[in-house]
Amino acid sequence: MKIIACYSSKGGVGKTSAAVNLAYASAKHGLKTLLIDLDQQGASTFYFRVRPEKAQPSKTIIRSLVQKRDATKEIRETDFELLHILPANQAFRNLDSLLDGIKKSKRRLADFIEDLGSSYDRVILDCPPTLSLMAENVFRTSDIVLIPVVPTTLSERTLSQLTEFFKEADFKKKKLRPFFSMVEKRKRIHSDTMSRLRLSEKRMLRSSIPYSAEIESMGTHRAPVLQFSPAHPSSQAFRELWMEVESLLKP
Ligand SMILES: Nc1ncnc2c1ncn2[C@@H]1O[C@H](COP(=O)(O)OP(=O)(O)OP(=O)(O)O)[C@@H](O)[C@H]1O
Ligand SMILES: [Mg+2]
Repeated sequence: MKIIACYSSKGGVGKTSAAVNLAYASAKHGLKTLLIDLDQQGASTFYFRVRPEKAQPSKTIIRSLVQKRDATKEIRETDFELLHILPANQAFRNLDSLLDGIKKSKRRLADFIEDLGSSYDRVILDCPPTLSLMAENVFRTSDIVLIPVVPTTLSERTLSQLTEFFKEADFKKKKLRPFFSMVEKRKRIHSDTMSRLRLSEKRMLRSSIPYSAEIESMGTHRAPVLQFSPAHPSSQAFRELWMEVESLLKP
């Protein structure tokens, strides 16, 4: 099992779009894949036409987090073979205060993810935009932390703050893999920032995701762009991102 997180402390940068398409690509290539929607807003749950779990936090999830009970019955099938999802849950809304109150809080969610994902080849985490106890757990357990970076000055700052946090918390920096997201090549600020960051940030992935109305329309299709528009350049970009991530997972 390998765990791939889509993470940024910045909102609206393409975490969910990446998580959904990478999970789809992974299953399509014959890997048994579990997508965990850790964001209580439930965007990836929505894209896979799975219902979020009620208005109430699931007792099973809470028990599983606090008392290490099995939560596999909360996993749902999607319309796609080999692709399962743990839907967004209200329990995740207060995850930080929940974790704060229990022993080994820096590991508990990590254990939960590892237990739940043990029968899968790939586990993809769609994370909410917070830098917190939850994020620490995600960083600890993930093999790769993918960070979508929109090539503007503000995103550069987010990335350097995150790198600093990794250093201070003594996480393996090699897990951090940023990639450019929502790229508009015609925009001067985008191309300048990309050239600069490619020089200073050696861990930046080669693949990048263009800004595209096709990706935006995932909300109306309620499916990954790779599924409803496989020949589109943005689908090609997600395929390349998936292949690059897979190549990093090889020993
Ligand atoms: N490459 C892209 N081109 C155009 N629109 C995009 C692209 N990627 C994402 N979007 C749109 O931008 C919005 C935010 O994208 P997404 O939900 O993937 O970001 P996020 O980082 O998960 O956001 P949040 O922090 O709210 O969870 C969505 O409406 C999505 O359709
Ligand atoms: Mg999201």
